[in-house]
Amino acid sequence: VILRRVHPEPPDGGPAESIDVEAPDARARIAELYAPSSEQWLRLNLVHSVDGSAKGADGTSHELSSAPDRAVLGAIRSLSDLVLIGAETLRAERYLLPQNQRLAVVTGSGDLSGAKTKEPLPEDRILVVGPAAAEARARETFVTAFTFVALPEKDDRRLDVRAVIAALRDRGAPRIVCEGGPHLAQQLLRSRLVDEICLTTSPKLVGGAFPVLGTKPLDEQSLELRQLLVDDAGSIYARWYAGGRAPIS
Ligand SMILES: NC(=O)c1ccc[n+]([C@@H]2O[C@H](COP(=O)([O-])OP(=O)(O)OC[C@H]3O[C@@H](n4cnc5c(N)ncnc54)[C@H](OP(=O)(O)O)[C@@H]3O)[C@@H](O)[C@H]2O)c1
Repeated sequence: VILRRVHPEPPDGGPAESIDVEAPDARARIAELYAPSSEQWLRLNLVHSVDGSAKGADGTSHELSSAPDRAVLGAIRSLSDLVLIGAETLRAERYLLPQNQRLAVVTGSGDLSGAKTKEPLPEDRILVVGPAAAEARARETFVTAFTFVALPEKDDRRLDVRAVIAALRDRGAPRIVCEGGPHLAQQLLRSRLVDEICLTTSPKLVGGAFPVLGTKPLDEQSLELRQLLVDDAGSIYARWYAGGRAPIS
C-alpha cells in the first residue's frame, strides 16, 4: 500500500512523495512527515468514517483502521513520550497495551477491565490517572502493574484535564499523543490544550452517530491544514494545526 503526500506539494513541482508502507524504512519516513514543530505538544490522533463516526458496527474503531493507518499511528507514537487514552477506549476496544511505549489511562471509576498485554509490563510504563477513590478498583481490574497518579476530583469523580496534562508533563512527557476516545478528545479541545489534530478519514459510511471529536459544541476555531496524505485504498490523513495552546501552570 502506498501513501502519497498531496499537500504540501513538492516545491520544485516534482512527483509527490510516496511511501510503500510495507518497506522496512516506512515507519521512519512517515515519522519524518509527522515531525512536530515544537518540543512540547499535545496531538490528537483519531480515525473516523466519511459520515463522521468514530466507531463501526462492532462498537470499535477497528474496521475504520487499516495497515497504513496503523503505520501512521506507529510513527506518531514513535515521536511521543506517552500515549494517552480514556478508560472507555481501553474497555471497548479490548485494548492491546503498547509494549514499548508509555501509556496513561484516565479513569474516574477505576474500571480498567478488558485490556490485553503480550507480557507483564514494568509499573513505571503505565500511568493510571484518576481520583484517589478509583485506585482500588483499578488494582482489581487491570491486566498488569501500573503507577497510580491521584488527582483531585472536580465533581462526580471527574478530573480537570488541564491537571491531567500537567501531571503527565511533570512525569517526563512533554510530547503527548491522545488516541481517544471522543469524550477525552473533546475535553482536551474545549480546554484549548491541543496543538494538532491528526485525523484519518476512512472511505466508508458506517451509519453510526458517534462524532470523533465528541458531541458537545466546541468554540469556533480556525485550523491550518499542515499536511494531507492519501493512500491507494482511499483513506486520507490530515494534520490540522490548532495552535493557540493555553499555557499549563
Ligand atoms: N475512531 C477512533 O479513533 C477512536 C479512538 C478511540 C476510541 N474510539 C472508540 O470510542 C469509544 C470510546 O470512546 P469514548 O469517547 O466513549 O470514551 P473515552 O474518551 O475513551 O473514555 C471515557 C472515559 O475516560 C474516563 N475519563 C475521561 N475524562 C475523564 C475525566 N476528566 N476525569 C476522569 N475520568 C475521565 C472516564 O472513565 P471511567 O468510565 O472509568 O470513569 C470516562 O468514562 C469506543 O467505542 C472506541 O472504540 C474510537
